[in-house]
Amino acid sequence: MPVLLQVKDLRTSLFTQVGEVKAVDGVSFDIDSGEALGVVGESGCGKSVTALSIMRLVPNPPGHIVGGQMVFDRRDLLKLSDQEMRRVRGKDIAMIFQDPMTSLNPVLTIRRQITESLQLHMGMNAGQARERAIELLKMVGIPSPKQRINDYPHQFSGGMRQRVMIAIALACSPRLIIADEPTTALDVTIQAQIVDLVKHLRRELGTAVMWITHDLGIVAGLCDRVVVMYAGHIVESAPVRELYANPSHPYTLGLLRSIPRLDQERRTKLVPIDGFPPDLIDLPAVCAFRTRCAHIGDACQEGVPPLRLVGPDHYVACWVDVKARTPALSA
Ligand SMILES: Nc1ncnc2c1ncn2[C@@H]1O[C@H](COP(=O)(O)OP(=O)(O)OP(=O)(O)O)[C@@H](O)[C@H]1O
Ligand SMILES: [Mg+2]
Repeated sequence: MPVLLQVKDLRTSLFTQVGEVKAVDGVSFDIDSGEALGVVGESGCGKSVTALSIMRLVPNPPGHIVGGQMVFDRRDLLKLSDQEMRRVRGKDIAMIFQDPMTSLNPVLTIRRQITESLQLHMGMNAGQARERAIELLKMVGIPSPKQRINDYPHQFSGGMRQRVMIAIALACSPRLIIADEPTTALDVTIQAQIVDLVKHLRRELGTAVMWITHDLGIVAGLCDRVVVMYAGHIVESAPVRELYANPSHPYTLGLLRSIPRLDQERRTKLVPIDGFPPDLIDLPAVCAFRTRCAHIGDACQEGVPPLRLVGPDHYVACWVDVKARTPALSA
């Protein structure tokens, strides 16, 4: 599959009163056409800032993209004018946020919110846009879409609102959907329904997805590949199966241990990773995970570890050969 989005050495900082927060510090990854990439990592590691950078929506001030390149469909997003970028956001890349209430307009009907972009970006007239909006609501599983299209956001439940958001995101048939923890606020059953819906839509429409989450469990069911972020860096990247079979960064091992294994009869208890993430204003010139790492060795003094290839399409930023030291995770 051809590469759809190529992010190269992205650096985004927040210039705050107490200093430069290096929220994204040299992040590189690709998303192929139709591929689903999971981005995981604990709170504050730079997932949202990465997504907002791609959309060029990092709040400024305090945020600023200080370096790197983001090539979408052969166009360098950082070189586009604001107007060109608005068109990319309306048509090519759509984003779904955790809380639909912050991105849905409470005083406009759902109809207005879907048809507006269809008229603006797809050149439809009002009648065509209404038909398409009803079709979209049906596609995301909103019952009685003909009636519901005239409702306001608060008239929908949390799960239904998230479906409406997905309908809006899909309206102009984007090539890429970036979902920033869209199911975190929902209960587990609804969460599973939304994940199923996205899986189904992907199969049907071939849209590429970047799915941001704390939860490696969701990634397993949805994504082809996963990148694990820690303190503004990618510390591991691999196809999903490979990551589960051979997790190779101590932080990934910690994340995997902290999710309950649904395939095991006795559900394991959640095991949080000890310690706290580092201060992004004052990052050490060595591995940022060092202070929390159970595998630390002499090599860990040697500067920030670069990503190195350890398996098929599998990269790890760690000086230590963790696999040689750890019994298999599933044992
Ligand atoms: N507007 C801002 N001003 C100052 N610092 C910010 C701002 N937005 C983000 N940050 C900082 O940038 C870092 C990365 O934040 P980001 O929101 O990308 O984390 P995240 O991985 O999405 O976390 P979460 O899982 O909690 O959503 C954090 O240290 C955060 O405190
Ligand atoms: Mg976030």
